[in-house]
Amino acid sequence: MTERFKNKVAFVSGGARGLGASHARRFVKEGGRVVIGDILVDEGRALAQELGAENALFVTLDVTDEASWVAAREAAEKAFGPVSILVNNAGIQKLGTTLDSSLEDFDVVVKVNLHGTFLGTKVIGQSLIKAGGGSIINVSSIAGMIGLPNTVGYVAAKWAVRGITKASALELAPHHIRVNSIHPGRIVTDLTAGLNSPIRPNQVIKEPGRPEDISNLVAFLASEESRFSTGVEFIVDGGRYVGESDPVK
Ligand SMILES: NC(=O)c1ccc[n+]([C@@H]2O[C@H](COP(=O)([O-])OP(=O)(O)OC[C@H]3O[C@@H](n4cnc5c(N)ncnc54)[C@H](O)[C@@H]3O)[C@@H](O)[C@H]2O)c1
Repeated sequence: MTERFKNKVAFVSGGARGLGASHARRFVKEGGRVVIGDILVDEGRALAQELGAENALFVTLDVTDEASWVAAREAAEKAFGPVSILVNNAGIQKLGTTLDSSLEDFDVVVKVNLHGTFLGTKVIGQSLIKAGGGSIINVSSIAGMIGLPNTVGYVAAKWAVRGITKASALELAPHHIRVNSIHPGRIVTDLTAGLNSPIRPNQVIKEPGRPEDISNLVAFLASEESRFSTGVEFIVDGGRYVGESDPVK
C-alpha cells in the first residue's frame, strides 16, 4: 500500500460499519487519518479503537441534523485539523412502491440519503476550504442511474444525490474542491443482507462485489490521481448497467 493519504484527514459519514467502515480502514491503511461519523456509537467507537487513536476519531453524527454536523466538524478539526476528503456515505433504504409507501417512509429515506449529503457538503465543505481544497465523494447507487421498482424513496434520493454533486462541483471548483458521485451495484452489507441474490441477472461479471471494490474507487477519487474528474458519475457494478442480458432474437 502507498502513503497517498499522508497528512490528509478524511471524514466518512455512516462509517461505523459496511462500506463506510471499509473506506475508513482504507484511508488509514494508506497513511491518512479518518473521522468516522455515525449514529451507531458502539460500532463506531470499536472501529476507531481498532484503527488507533492517532489515526481515527469517532464522532456521534446524525446526518439529518445540521447542528450535529457542526459539532462533528469542530471535533474533527480539534483532533486532526481541517478535513480535505469527505465521503457522504450514510444511507438507508426502505422497501415500498410509489403506490404503497407511506410519506413517512419516503421522507426518512430522503432525509438520510439526500439531506445528509446536502448538510455534509455544506458544513464539512467549510473545512475543505480551510484545508485549501480537496475531494468530496457522494455515495449514490445504481439506483441513481436507472429505475428500480419497490424502493421509490431510495431511487428518488439517489438520483437527487447526482444533482447535488453536479451543482456543488460547479460551486466549489473555485475552492479547488472536486465533487463526484459513485454508483455501486449490489454489495453484501447489513443494508442488503435480507435482499435477493447479490448477483443480479443483468450483471456481466458473475461474482458478487466486495466492499474493497468500492473502497478502491473511493481511494482513487479521494486522491490526486483523479485530479481531472469532477461532477461526474463513477459506476462500479460488475457490468450490471451495460444492458440487457437476453440476446436479440
Ligand atoms: N451495499 C450495497 O449494495 C450498496 C449499493 C449501492 C449503494 N450503497 C450505498 O452505500 C452506502 C453505505 O451502505 P452500506 O451497504 O454500507 O449500508 P450499512 O447499513 O451497512 O451502513 C450504513 C451506515 O449509515 C449509518 N447511518 C444511517 N442513518 C444515519 C444517520 N441518520 N446519521 C448517520 N449515520 C447514519 C448506519 O448507522 C450505518 O453505519 C449507503 O449510502 C448506500 O445507499 C450500498
